[in-house]
Amino acid sequence: MVTVVGLGFVGLTTALGFAEYGHKVYGIEINETRMATIQSGKLPFLEPGLDEALKRHLGKNFFPITDWETAIAGSECVYYCVGTPYGENGQADLTYLYGAVEQTLDVIRDKKFRVLVTKSTIPPSTTEKRIIPFLEGHGVKVPEQLGVANNPEFLREGHCWEDFTHADRIVLGVSDERSEMVLRALYAEESAPIFCVSLNTGEFIKYLSNTSLACLISIANEMSLAADVIGGIDTAEAFRILHMDKRWQTGTIRSYFYPGCGYGGYCLPKDTNAFYARIKDSGFDCQILKNTIRLNDEMPEITAKRIARAAKESKGACIGILGLSFNPGSDDVRDTPSAKIIRTLNEAGYQNIVAYDPVAMAEFQTHFQLDCRCVDTYEELLKQADIVAITTAWPMFADVKTRTNSPVVDCRYML
Ligand SMILES: NC(=O)c1ccc[n+]([C@@H]2O[C@H](COP(=O)([O-])OP(=O)(O)OC[C@H]3O[C@@H](n4cnc5c(N)ncnc54)[C@H](O)[C@@H]3O)[C@@H](O)[C@H]2O)c1
Repeated sequence: MVTVVGLGFVGLTTALGFAEYGHKVYGIEINETRMATIQSGKLPFLEPGLDEALKRHLGKNFFPITDWETAIAGSECVYYCVGTPYGENGQADLTYLYGAVEQTLDVIRDKKFRVLVTKSTIPPSTTEKRIIPFLEGHGVKVPEQLGVANNPEFLREGHCWEDFTHADRIVLGVSDERSEMVLRALYAEESAPIFCVSLNTGEFIKYLSNTSLACLISIANEMSLAADVIGGIDTAEAFRILHMDKRWQTGTIRSYFYPGCGYGGYCLPKDTNAFYARIKDSGFDCQILKNTIRLNDEMPEITAKRIARAAKESKGACIGILGLSFNPGSDDVRDTPSAKIIRTLNEAGYQNIVAYDPVAMAEFQTHFQLDCRCVDTYEELLKQADIVAITTAWPMFADVKTRTNSPVVDCRYML
């Protein structure tokens, strides 16, 4: 039996994934609205496949409950899938993680061996230098009483269920045999290769992955800016032809080596910052990573300037923003480039902005107070806009040039 703490994108996927393996899973979520939605059998966000999994397992193998004591008493593993947002100086903020671990310790009443597993993304050495001392500070003997481990998650939003059920590899950061056995048993049904590595290596692999992807995006963006200053270059065509090279043909990695208006979402921005801060703490100033972050931070302003130029710097022009989620296929607007671009335009004096997104408008309006009116339909946006900017590469926007005579700024190079 497993308890999963935090039922967001990662937690709900993990809980239902373990339920699919046949385990009994308790889910704990602090956000009452999110919990009530899940308990009623609905998803709190858009994730293909996860809705069916919830219907299959709710009340059978998956029990979202508020009673920590029942959940922890019955569980051999406790999975932490809480947020690890931006902290001071870009460092990962572990407040939610510590809070959840503390809530776990508060309800342990027996001597049963359990493994506390962090699935949240945490910088290398966090388990060893922070979580274990935190537990020891609460009088826990590690690993005699409780095991600790990490199990980083590599899923992509919009593909959570597919990525969990067809994982490429499972990474387990463990430092004692007993915990390793418990975790291997948990993943007994998994066909992907399982790698048991040191605690630090487990954490490092996750950041290695996100940093590499972010670097690819930033170098692609830098090349698109280089193409702009040289002139006479069809950037989208150049990248598509580059991708014909068989070395770029396997998997979806080429989608990261493609220009756009900067990476966003919950993971890459905060994880690159946290990793940079963590490495700097150890005395090494990573130049490539630093410039990857710097360029990404500049992309909203660069993109806003492109849009303003298309509007001939006319502050009264109606700017139509197509796409608000950070990626197509998702309604997640955390750290979405669209918000930063609209904010930059607002600050530059552009207040006449309309926006449309097929799924993310409600989320966007909840998270951001910007001078921007959401319109109900794609058609309505095209009717109102003097200039149209594609900021999220939803496939439905591919026909935009056939539907409007207004100038189109293709910030995602999708046309
Ligand atoms: N979203 C992704 O694509 C993705 C991919 C891989 C890894 N991650 C990492 O996984 C972690 C979670 O990400 P997410 O996108 O699922 O976040 P999320 O914000 O969607 O979900 C976290 C959930 O934890 C809940 N929570 C916080 N404290 C709690 C507590 N004490 N008890 C119970 N619930 C609590 C929050 O209310 C929230 O619903 C982060 O560290 C993130 O970096 C995310």
